[in-house]
Amino acid sequence: MEGIPSEEIVYTNNISVNNYNALRKAVSWIKVTEKRASIAINNSHYLCVAECGGKPVGMARIVSDGGYTYFITDVIVLPDYQGYHIGTELISRAIDYIRKDVLDGETVMVSLMAAYGRESFYERFGFHTRPYGNHGPGMSMWVSRDITGSVITL
Ligand SMILES: CC(C)(COP(=O)(O)OP(=O)(O)OC[C@H]1O[C@@H](n2cnc3c(N)ncnc32)[C@H](O)[C@@H]1OP(=O)(O)O)[C@@H](O)C(=O)NCCC(=O)NCCS
Repeated sequence: MEGIPSEEIVYTNNISVNNYNALRKAVSWIKVTEKRASIAINNSHYLCVAECGGKPVGMARIVSDGGYTYFITDVIVLPDYQGYHIGTELISRAIDYIRKDVLDGETVMVSLMAAYGRESFYERFGFHTRPYGNHGPGMSMWVSRDITGSVITL
């Protein structure tokens, strides 16, 4: 497979709301409202964006309380750019950031919710697929309010 020269990929710490939703759309994830997308990006503890020719082609974020909990989320690489180790670079940079943040004698929890079938992508960085030890499976749900005001959980 012909590769994308790694020097063509530049890593930054910024993304616009439109580009964030464009990346999400490209991997069939739901659109986040403009207001919530802006809050999400601005409140990221750490944000890494892969750009090619000035265009975002991948991203990963960490949300954190800055103390004990670090959650890696919004890990996306555009389909045309997948398989060129951009995802690896994004996760490596995020983990590197956390490693540097942890001081002598400290322990923090780093977690993420792997998309279905993506477990082996993350296991190579040391993540354990749950259930693991006394850790049960990860759990999540959607909470939505529809246009009639009814709250729906899925
Ligand atoms: C998952 C994703 C971020 C990986 O990004 P990527 O840039 O294509 O990954 P890389 O090129 O760095 O792949 C690194 C290695 O992981 C492997 N890998 C990539 N995608 C994988 C997958 N879905 N499942 C298992 N292994 C995978 C690759 O084969 C590669 O192995 P190699 O080093 O032996 O060649 C990307 O496929 C993506 O955005 N998918 C859609 C959105 C998504 O599911 N995000 C994750 C949500 S938790």
